[in-house]
Amino acid sequence: STEKPYRIACIPGDGIGVDITDAAIQVLNKLAEVAGNFKFDFVHFDWSSKNFKERGWYMPEDGMEQLKKHDAIYFGAVGWPDVPDHISLWGLILPIRKSMNQYVNVRPTRILRGTEAPLKKCGPKDLDWVIVRENSEGEYAGQGGTTHDHTAYAVATEVAIFTAVGIDRIMRFAFETARSRPCKKLTMVTKSNAQRHGMVLWDKIFHQVAKDYPDVEWDKMLVDAMTVRMVLHPQTLDTIVATNLHADILSDLAAALSGSIGIAPSSNLDPTRGCPSMFEPIHGSAPDIAGKGIANPVGAFWSAAEMVRWVGKGELEEAADALMLAIENVTEAGIRTKDLGGDKNTKEVTEAVCKEIEKVL
Ligand code: NAI
Ligand code: MG
Repeated sequence: STEKPYRIACIPGDGIGVDITDAAIQVLNKLAEVAGNFKFDFVHFDWSSKNFKERGWYMPEDGMEQLKKHDAIYFGAVGWPDVPDHISLWGLILPIRKSMNQYVNVRPTRILRGTEAPLKKCGPKDLDWVIVRENSEGEYAGQGGTTHDHTAYAVATEVAIFTAVGIDRIMRFAFETARSRPCKKLTMVTKSNAQRHGMVLWDKIFHQVAKDYPDVEWDKMLVDAMTVRMVLHPQTLDTIVATNLHADILSDLAAALSGSIGIAPSSNLDPTRGCPSMFEPIHGSAPDIAGKGIANPVGAFWSAAEMVRWVGKGELEEAADALMLAIENVTEAGIRTKDLGGDKNTKEVTEAVCKEIEKVL
């Protein structure tokens, strides 16, 4: 192809992050090859917990500047048992989300063709959600501290930060997302009964923004009751907006309800496009299955499809749709990893998706 390639920064990270990033690159290269009108230039960054142990850093000083030269970032997973999780998360993924202005995290969930959800009465038509997660502040703002550490009087605070600007922009994104989907319905998740400052501001700004979207039907749920509704009445939900922590938890539940955490994608977006956005499956490094070659690559492929849509700005929709179609044809054909009740490994699923891309595009 003579087109200018899309420059993708790849950070495989740790554990199965490495396997599924390799698999995603293989599938993306196949997609570009078959489509013929675009290509990718993948640049690898070996920022991982293993290298942190040796070098003492996750990212070099100019890491953010290096990432900014790319059209998008593809991320595997970070975290390993020999590094405390707050060190790995705050060493790599959280600083990227914050520095790159990725204030939205979009997490779609649905039941893919040929897969089974654990709920008895839940078919593919009953569960088709998009969770919009506030990705820059809230409970993960990083404010707080520890006093009298290592004594019996230790005190630690973790301050949740909610700003009017931060809430306004995530609510607008959520309403736009709801508006773009067939049922135009948004559920706002809160905990303003117990958390009477930050969450009350959250609710107040939601109601202000809602006035600008009279065509979107909305309702409001306390987060605890929301878990019950997701399990008992999944068909009553469509687009969901929640804080950083609430949406983190609810999206793992959503993934499990749709069949496996191994299929769920996520997009960390800078909607202003001032910085590259980052695409990653929602799962972690899965040390329990790392190195066995059995990780489900579907969440990585779905994340890759979302990346194709984002960098294409409307011009690569056909390719992204073809990738999703290929993924679901493969799950429907029974070529699935163990977490989805199958007996195939990462490589077999990846090869099957590559073959299917040749057929559908
Ligand atoms: P996890 O998502 O890595 O694993 C949870 C369970 O799901 C495990 O039993 C695992 O085997 C299974 N699983 C996850 N992805 C799978 C896949 N693709 N195919 C098949 N099975 C899969 O979460 P966990 O165990 O809580 O965390 C492990 C490490 O990952 C920790 O260090 C944690 O901090 C880190 N982590 C990193 C994230 C990121 O980089 N965005 C997100 C979540 C956790
Ligand atoms: Mg999570």
